[in-house]
Amino acid sequence: MRVIIDSDPKKLAAIAADQIVALYRRKPDAVLGVATGSSPLDIYSELAVRVQAGQLSLAKAKAFQLDEYVGIDVNHPQRYRNFIETYLVKVTDIDTANVFGPDGNAEDLDEACARYEAQIAEAGGIDLQILGVGVDGHIAFNEPGASLGGLTHVETLIHQTISDNARFFDGDESQVPRFALTQGVATILKSRSAVLIATGENKADAIQGIVEGPVTAMCTGSALQWHPDVTILVDEAAASKLAYADRYRELWQLSQSR
Ligand code: GLP
Repeated sequence: MRVIIDSDPKKLAAIAADQIVALYRRKPDAVLGVATGSSPLDIYSELAVRVQAGQLSLAKAKAFQLDEYVGIDVNHPQRYRNFIETYLVKVTDIDTANVFGPDGNAEDLDEACARYEAQIAEAGGIDLQILGVGVDGHIAFNEPGASLGGLTHVETLIHQTISDNARFFDGDESQVPRFALTQGVATILKSRSAVLIATGENKADAIQGIVEGPVTAMCTGSALQWHPDVTILVDEAAASKLAYADRYRELWQLSQSR
């Protein structure tokens, strides 16, 4: 796990974009795992800049969403497929037909989950997974108590998540869907590399749990300690509870001077 701490969120996004540019230079048809929420927005903006500058092309890329609400109107701006359309597809050269998500409106949700796992496998697996994190340390929609060995499944959202996400639904908790389809922790662990981005003091406990806490289903992001190639990008506030923050800073500086 590489932990990179920087007070400037734009710099954090640029570091993630650098990794993505390097991946697509090496492998133009690489598979990107895409997250929703506010945290990855700077990364998507930076990708747009790189595409415009001719440094990056996602024309041959495939993208797979982490999750999707169950039963949300197909035109709702907070439907995660629409969110990715707005913040990634519209601003880069990725083909909308190459963006996939679990079908939260399927009649048989379990079958939709199995189908989604198969689609990811058929695409060759995810090369780089972008991640945010919930305040309780959840990744995708793997809420506290979700199996660390789980694949894509139906998740019941906890009240904390419903309350956090109400800001995207006119502040009205009753409008937030109660269920979601989500890649499981084991799905995420199969990605060949992962980049998690978090800013703000409200993410400090989650980041401490993910980086330094015991691996526990109470903080599903902590399972990333098992991932062979993860970069954790955090600002000073999100890093404020890390006991080994100075060591992470030193390691990052050393890796830059090599
Ligand atoms: C939701 C999403 C997660 C995301 C989290 C944090 O729960 N399913 O993928 O990481 O929100 O969102 P934000 O980045 O807006 O804090």
